[in-house]
Amino acid sequence: MLKVMNHPLITHKLTQMRKVETGTKDFRQNLDEIAGLMAYEICRDLPTKPVMIQTPICECQTEELSKEIVLIPILRAGLGLVNGITDLIPTAKVGFIGLYRDEETLQPHEYFAKFPNTMPDAVNMVLDPMLATGGSAVAAIDMIKKRGAKTIKLVCLVGAPEGVKAVEQAHPDVDIYLAALDDHLNEKGYIVPGLGDAGDRIFGTR
Ligand code: URA
Repeated sequence: MLKVMNHPLITHKLTQMRKVETGTKDFRQNLDEIAGLMAYEICRDLPTKPVMIQTPICECQTEELSKEIVLIPILRAGLGLVNGITDLIPTAKVGFIGLYRDEETLQPHEYFAKFPNTMPDAVNMVLDPMLATGGSAVAAIDMIKKRGAKTIKLVCLVGAPEGVKAVEQAHPDVDIYLAALDDHLNEKGYIVPGLGDAGDRIFGTR
């Protein structure tokens, strides 16, 4: 399932991020804000369980979340989505995946992985701002499935049709959430119109 968040606030904030003149501070702030807004919408279908509680007035039956949330940012740009989501879900655990691309085969390989042991029963959100070719997202999802993850949501800011197709083909069970679906990838692998290199813009590198 592909869900593109159509919301004026998200679109406005993403427009600020796309502008070439937007600096690190505003880029990060808008990213935090969009991540929170997206998380609110993504959490709409989270499972809940009935619980009995005591209010100051009486005992009553209500509901609370029944599954843990695990965030799995793909290093390094995925880190940019963590704060905005943990502001909304402070109990979320955070795992990490580091990938490098083999110069010859162009295939992504794992160089770092650290996960909470609750991943098999949790709702796992793989985070990467840019869904370009989909290679990293497909590899990251392969890796967490090998470690037992079953419920997986891929959360990206901007996607290209090429990346969406690659993930849908490799992992049809994974829901994909985007703030925007852009036009295409250019010859250098950048999303068009996109916002440039997300990692460089988040961390102020070049
Ligand atoms: N990664 C980025 O940071 N930007 C793109 O446009 C594509 C991949």
